[in-house]
Amino acid sequence: AGTLGSAATAKGRYFGAAVSAQYLGESGYVSTLNREFSSVTPENEMKWDAVEANRNTFTFGSADRIVSHAQSRGMSVRGHTLVWHSQLPGWVAGLGAADLRSAMNHHITTVMRHYKGKVLAWDVVNEAFQDGGSGARRSSPFQDKLGNGFIEEAFRTARAADPAAKLCYNDYNTDGVNPKSNAVYAMVKDFKARGVPIDCVGFQSHFNSASPVPSDYRANLQRFADLGVDVQITELDIEGSGGAQATAYGNVVNACLAVSRCTGITVWGVTDKYSWRSSGTPLLFDGNYTKKPAYDAVLAALGGS
Ligand code: G3I
Repeated sequence: AGTLGSAATAKGRYFGAAVSAQYLGESGYVSTLNREFSSVTPENEMKWDAVEANRNTFTFGSADRIVSHAQSRGMSVRGHTLVWHSQLPGWVAGLGAADLRSAMNHHITTVMRHYKGKVLAWDVVNEAFQDGGSGARRSSPFQDKLGNGFIEEAFRTARAADPAAKLCYNDYNTDGVNPKSNAVYAMVKDFKARGVPIDCVGFQSHFNSASPVPSDYRANLQRFADLGVDVQITELDIEGSGGAQATAYGNVVNACLAVSRCTGITVWGVTDKYSWRSSGTPLLFDGNYTKKPAYDAVLAALGGS
């Protein structure tokens, strides 16, 4: 198969990209998206500040445009993200505990019902753990006012809102075995043991020279899969260029393919020119939508040509 999406499909996986609604009118962007990708993740449009900037006033326009585009092309959608400390409107941080709990559950329920049947998997909670060796939860309005239990509550609310959607926990710097991924692992293990609804774990996989693809990437994905959840590579980008970047991308794809419960890969953007990394060339297509060596390596690893 000659595209990323079709080659991934042949391997029983999706291959997705983060998409911004503002570029859906650009022909090079859209033609590349439509040709190559079988899944999309709205890059910013489903975040709390985008959909509920003011309490109980929901604005879905930009996210709806992405979801409609995906549906019209038969692409699946990853919903990103329901509960996150960043891109959170100020009014949320100002609430007291009881009100915050109610606002969190109302937000999850309203957004998930709006997209019921249209979103394959949701990042229910994003980036709730600290970096470094402590394994502790990250400070956030949710953590600080509701305690560790906010994550469990979010997942239970999400399951009730759309029972068919896959519910994921998503984080970064958890790609290899390390204290942060150990802490997430312990949480997922506890959730599975106690019947807290969780279906998948997302590994963002933002790599650069200081944080390269870990040598135990596959083993880490596998240990989570062995807990009985799917794993997904959710925000892949790799700084660099040329052969080194291509090799790293190929290694990521091979790691996913080696784990039967690794159900898909999403790269965090279509083209280098719109990457969240203001400098650098971390993606598969350059600014002219020309395929890079990294593209060829990904396609080859997927068994395409
Ligand atoms: O919406 C405003 C717009 O009104 C304004 O005109 C413009 C001017 O700069 O800013 C716009 O907001 C920007 C937003 O993206 C939408 O374009 C923010 O400044 C900018 O900070 C924001 O960056 C996003 C970032 O998350 C915010 O945390 C990136 O695009 C997005 O790629 C990035 O994605 C995150 C994932 O959600 C979670 N994991 C890490 C990943 C990379 O940081």
